[in-house]
Amino acid sequence: MAAEMALVKAISAPKFGSPRRTFSYSKFTSIKISATAQTTSIPKPKPSKKANKTEIKETLLTPRFYTTDFDEMEILFNTEINKKLNQSEFEALLQEFKTDYNQTHFVRNKEFKEAADKMEGPSRNIFVEFLERSCTAEFSGFLLYKELGRRLKKTNPVVAEIFSLMSRDEARHAGFLNKGLSDFNLALDLGFLTKARKYTFFKPKFIFYATYLSEKIGYWRYITIYRHLKANPEYQCYPIFKYFENWCQDENRHGDFFSALLKAQPQFLNDWKAKLWSRFFCLSVYVTMYLNDCQRTAFYEGIGLDTKEFDMHVIFEVRLTLCTSSIYLYYLLCLFKLN
Ligand SMILES: [Fe+2]
Ligand SMILES: [Fe+2]
Repeated sequence: MAAEMALVKAISAPKFGSPRRTFSYSKFTSIKISATAQTTSIPKPKPSKKANKTEIKETLLTPRFYTTDFDEMEILFNTEINKKLNQSEFEALLQEFKTDYNQTHFVRNKEFKEAADKMEGPSRNIFVEFLERSCTAEFSGFLLYKELGRRLKKTNPVVAEIFSLMSRDEARHAGFLNKGLSDFNLALDLGFLTKARKYTFFKPKFIFYATYLSEKIGYWRYITIYRHLKANPEYQCYPIFKYFENWCQDENRHGDFFSALLKAQPQFLNDWKAKLWSRFFCLSVYVTMYLNDCQRTAFYEGIGLDTKEFDMHVIFEVRLTLCTSSIYLYYLLCLFKLN
């Protein structure tokens, strides 16, 4: 912890709570972002009577929704076809997901609304954008995992159940962030989003690379922010960050599951094309994160972080995770290192 935080030093910066100018929102704004009627329910924030609908700005760097070749997925997880699937490892992972460590973790209190009410001016805008983007990203995971859980049910019930339980986690995360938006009199219309938003298609191989990396990056981002704010409580402007310690353990478990999936599909790791593609994905994920964060330095400075140092720290730790996660991930170590 100390070594990690040494890389993420606090800087002197304006806090979110310090207003520069007053910015007034309409009474209650609902932001359109939707998701098809999936079975796992996401807690909805309670909007007030009138809700003005606002479109989310779509850019190249906006968090996306993903879809994949589910028929190919079914072949990959068929134990009759793929003898490398280590069912006992998946069963052990399933037990862990069933334990549901964070079942009672995401409980809000009155601090949320009080903290939101103190935010004014540009800081408020920046914070709302953080909640919107985070909610969209979590919800994207929910949609993909939910569909995978549904499609793999017959082929591989153990793997399918893990996907369903991961979608439970992501639904919880997205719902918690959406409730955070209600503190700012806003709400994302997750039902609308599912239907209206474009889905990006990735072949299963690329889904594995991208999600494995995203989950591990998510873990390191959350835990870094949590530890930094614990050490520098004067930057603790909104209570959601206090939940990151347990929250990030969900992301870590998701990453571990994808690491087991990759081990079971060595063809995605050890030919020259796979090596090039995984390098490309690794680079894209790091660059996307960096560009996104650079556009939002005000947010990171608002919580006392230097954006560049924060990103470099996360990338460093993710690379270290790839190096030490497992001997079987030796290939990943070689592939994802960007030396
Ligand atoms: Fe999540
Ligand atoms: Fe996750």
